[in-house]
Amino acid sequence: MEKNFNKTFYITTPIYYVNDIPHVGHAYTTIIADSITRFKKLLGSDVFFLTGTDEHGQKVEKSAAEKGLKPIELADQVVGRFKDLWKALNISYDYFIRTTEPFHEKGAQKIFQKLRDKEDIYKGIYKGWYCVSDENFLPEDVPLEEEDHKICPDCGKRAEIVSEECYFFKLSAYQDRLLDFYAQNSTFVRPPSRMNEVISFVRQGLKDLSITRTTVRWGIPVPDDPDHTIYVWFDALHNYLTGIGYDWNMERFERFWPATIHLIGKDILRFHAIYWPAFLMAAEFPLPQIVFGHGWWLKDETKMSKSKGNVLDPHVILETFGPDPLRYFLLREIPIGLDGNFSHEGFVHRVNSDLANDLGNLIQRTLTMIQNYFNGKIDEIDEENKRDEILRQGFKSLKEKVFQFYEDYAINRALEEIWAYINSVNKYLADNEPWKLAKDSTQRKRLGRVLFQATAAIRAISYFISPVMPESSAKIWDYLGEEKPIQEKMFSELKFEDFKLEQKIKKPRPLFPRVVLQDFLKEEATPPAQPKMEEKMEYVTFDEFKRMNLRVGEILNAEKVEGTDKLVKLEVDIGTEKRTMVAGVADVYSPDELVGKKIMVIVNLKPAVIRGIESQGMLLAAEVEGKATIPFFPEDVPTGARVL
Ligand code: MSP
Repeated sequence: MEKNFNKTFYITTPIYYVNDIPHVGHAYTTIIADSITRFKKLLGSDVFFLTGTDEHGQKVEKSAAEKGLKPIELADQVVGRFKDLWKALNISYDYFIRTTEPFHEKGAQKIFQKLRDKEDIYKGIYKGWYCVSDENFLPEDVPLEEEDHKICPDCGKRAEIVSEECYFFKLSAYQDRLLDFYAQNSTFVRPPSRMNEVISFVRQGLKDLSITRTTVRWGIPVPDDPDHTIYVWFDALHNYLTGIGYDWNMERFERFWPATIHLIGKDILRFHAIYWPAFLMAAEFPLPQIVFGHGWWLKDETKMSKSKGNVLDPHVILETFGPDPLRYFLLREIPIGLDGNFSHEGFVHRVNSDLANDLGNLIQRTLTMIQNYFNGKIDEIDEENKRDEILRQGFKSLKEKVFQFYEDYAINRALEEIWAYINSVNKYLADNEPWKLAKDSTQRKRLGRVLFQATAAIRAISYFISPVMPESSAKIWDYLGEEKPIQEKMFSELKFEDFKLEQKIKKPRPLFPRVVLQDFLKEEATPPAQPKMEEKMEYVTFDEFKRMNLRVGEILNAEKVEGTDKLVKLEVDIGTEKRTMVAGVADVYSPDELVGKKIMVIVNLKPAVIRGIESQGMLLAAEVEGKATIPFFPEDVPTGARVL
């Protein structure tokens, strides 16, 4: 299958585990993929952008059990959270794949079957140290700790010894073919340092890979051997095939496979750069063009993790700033291959300096001057002089650089160049002082030219930032009176001269208000209430309910239990007999006000001794902020009546 890389462009993110809620780390990969997608669309490429969720495996099974949910119920909830976040971040994916979708399960089984038929998959016994948290057997060279256990080098958790019958993938048979492939495709793994890591790992020798489990129920069953489920990584990697149609939309599959770029975090490089190409070789599919391993975002210089409680929730930032400042910050701050440190100070500083000062002010004052001096429409300009020319020439070289940097996935470099140009436009205005020209009516054409030139530059800037900041660029484009949306303008057609005399400019609104760090930190300290993971509703049948004997009881006597604030001892007539009960309501009701009241009592609750008193039933009350509110029956309801 020959593929024309210039026409179709297929980009993927990893599929995210559903045992965790989305955080800035997940947002990072997805924002990179979205920005590249948007750029490629400006080039006129036929792009497919796939993201989704990895829903099987022991981790998800355990997490769901801890929450009293079925794995699929947990997955459904977390998928909702991911989709909400992608919407809030303006992520324009083409398909969101879930590995629990039947077409994916079928597709993965089909490939498994194919490899088993070819004897690239065979049955054997595996014994090894397994990290449940990472769903992964530890490499053999991990040393024993205190002679009896091993610690997972990736996540630091204790590994377990697992010994089981399982199917193996004949990875060892692919070692030479992989090395040949890397030699012929030296840019397969990026950045280059990671290519070297991969090559040296493969050179050390590859062992066959255990790719099924009998201990995990929450997984895709092995065809014709359902005691085994397919290992979650074998299952998950195949999403890249099924997500574009393998086995259910072959026309689309043929159009987009092989993937142009798999974007991943550096921690999952081995799976994508070694196992995945080997699986594909075995299944006789062409290999992807690039696996790009990006760095990690640290929070205040430490790795984000649930246990440290320093995971950065993007929602607070999005509520305060909208999507573009976060998108900009994450892509501008570091090259895609390196680690970055997220600090609120750094974030607010960038927003204030790059977005509010440099870009926001430039747009605000230029367009406001056009309103004030030309009533929103520049109608006369003089000849372009040498100083004016700088912006037009600057545009040409910027366009080439932006193209090249976006093409090379060096988005931070593209943004740096755009900001250098923004600063040159700011300098042009400072040098030409249009506010002074406006005071002299003989200078009207000159004034027109200066504002015209700056606006043509702003138009280009908004176009160039649009892959990274789609919302803001669309607003700027609209202020400039452009009729067609940005994405309909092809990159190759963009010209400085596109901006026309007499184009009607709208009154701008501030795009990036300045932020005071302290105010933002306050917001961050009180994050918006997140929808709680729903607890599972445990149903009881009517027959089960009927086993509870609920009756109307009348309180005959009440006295506080000595030495306690909350407890009261009650004597209650339940119609057939008198019962003693202890209730925790004394902080709300005085004994006097309880006497004579009719309450709801569960009379067949097993007696319990509380503070030396046998409590032979329990009154029912609502709990409101830790305090009891007792529902009282009207006086004429007969004592002992059954409550159903
Ligand atoms: N489910 C697997 C991927 C299967 S792909 C066939 C997985 N999921 S994950 O949810 O744990 O991680 C998904 C991605 O998020 C990984 O690429 C990981 O590197 C990335 N990140 C998680 N935390 C991160 C940061 N703090 N910073 C940057 N990216 C990080 O692995």
